[in-house]
Amino acid sequence: MTQELTTSLQADTARPSGGSGWWRDAVIYQVYVRSFADSDGDGIGDLRGARERLPHLAGLGADAVWLTPFYASPQADGGYDVADYRAVDPLFGTLADADDLVRTAHELGLRVIVDVVPNHTSDRHPWFRAALTGRPGGPDRARYHFRPGRGAGGELPPNDWESVFGGPAWTRTTGPDGAPGEWYLHLFAPEQPDLNWDCSEVREEFDSVLRFWLDLGVDGFRIDVAHGMVKAAGMPDIGRTEQAKLIGSQVLPFFDQDGVHEIHRSWRRLLDSYPGDRIGVAEAWAPSPERLALYVRPDELHQAFNFQFLKSPWDAAAMRTVIDESLAATASVGAPTTWVLSNHDVVRHPTRYADGSPARGLRRARAAALLTLALPGSVYLYQGEELGLPEVVDLPDACRQDPAFFRTSAEGQDGQDGQDGFRDGCRVPLPWSRSGASYGFGPGGSWLPQPAAWAGLSVEAQTGDPGSTLELYRSALALRRELPGLGDSGMTWLDAPAGVLALARPGFVCTLNTLGEEVELPVPGRALLSSAPLAYRAATVRIPPDCCAWWAI
Ligand code: NOJ
Repeated sequence: MTQELTTSLQADTARPSGGSGWWRDAVIYQVYVRSFADSDGDGIGDLRGARERLPHLAGLGADAVWLTPFYASPQADGGYDVADYRAVDPLFGTLADADDLVRTAHELGLRVIVDVVPNHTSDRHPWFRAALTGRPGGPDRARYHFRPGRGAGGELPPNDWESVFGGPAWTRTTGPDGAPGEWYLHLFAPEQPDLNWDCSEVREEFDSVLRFWLDLGVDGFRIDVAHGMVKAAGMPDIGRTEQAKLIGSQVLPFFDQDGVHEIHRSWRRLLDSYPGDRIGVAEAWAPSPERLALYVRPDELHQAFNFQFLKSPWDAAAMRTVIDESLAATASVGAPTTWVLSNHDVVRHPTRYADGSPARGLRRARAAALLTLALPGSVYLYQGEELGLPEVVDLPDACRQDPAFFRTSAEGQDGQDGQDGFRDGCRVPLPWSRSGASYGFGPGGSWLPQPAAWAGLSVEAQTGDPGSTLELYRSALALRRELPGLGDSGMTWLDAPAGVLALARPGFVCTLNTLGEEVELPVPGRALLSSAPLAYRAATVRIPPDCCAWWAI
């Protein structure tokens, strides 16, 4: 059936106002350091390995790299438990390696964003060690949230808050005499005590930490749990269990409190005091695009990951709604939208979209990439998505490291099409070559086993193969740089049949068929790129199932 593709105006998202910073339409590549490239053969990725592989990012066409935490840490949560914010963990290298990496990245034209983890420290941080030996009510405990327990003997947690990783968000301390004492708050693992941002010393310390890395030359920060630093006054009960299911769907007494914005405003002032457009990107789970947009108001952060888009099902109407709502919300504050399909905390999108068929998952992932890269705003890519890597769903329990695995029973998880909702399956080290102990990840093995089939998905195997996912990404990113219409400008929906999305940018059209069957459309223009082969008949084009195509008009 030939469907009409008309050029009537459906919705016009005006060009957002508010400057022309590099980040407004940048493609930023996330390096999960532990799993990217290993230089010394200990099976764990490191900064030197990452530096050696930066040409891959430059060749791909990325504008910047985001490095996940490489700071001194006992690694209770993959480095999101920081014991020293100014030191590099020996696992990942030295401060000199960080310096070299930043320099090399800049020489290659890549900006560098590093993580900052302000909601909590490690339980090995000197502040927390001092807090444990300090007296209740004393200054050492004031940097964290210590409370007496409820119940006659203080044997119950101070409130009903649950850890995001499962179990209570409070752990009871033990005094030097072995007697049970106060409880402390940890929204994540017990090894990650929450800081008290009402304490001025905490604020001053983080200003100093930001300056330390800015002075070293980084171009910005990805702010971990940017929605969590401020807790509701009095820390009220929530009154229900399974609180993790509420995250991102409502304001909670510990997440998305209005008080966090004042911290982000002060950090913006600090970033702006440095030359060269240094940025902050919020990892913020907000209940609506409007609440998320508050984090990117002109005097706050520059970007906020759009997790609503990440969570959207493979459904044209749902995707269109989330795109419209996101663009409208960010445009209302003059900010660009920040699109993301995967990261180190979620099931990789080829597996999320698979619906029981890995081949379908990959088809959809390739199409989703082209849709995402055609939207106005910036895009974060998660390492390995350019290779079409799926989630690894059969990791043996013995090699798991995700603290959530140890704190939650598998039945408690929602089994989101991956293995069970835990996060090791998206963190398996990258395959760079067809052979070698860890497919080129490093000279030794790899901290999580890589599937044998990944030899064929390696950078080496895909390079030069015009049908490969890697070459699709390379072509898409090259076109995105070349075509002026794909920058930070508005977009228009075109009429399209149900199940198909068609959007126009200046001189450009993108068509996405989300259906399980081919659709026939009038040829929109000159084909630039498509995620699967197209077939033409006279003035129509047949777009295969789960396929996205780019056109010049
Ligand atoms: C978000 C990070 O991305 C995740 O990996 C971490 O476990 C939590 N924040 C806690 O820091």
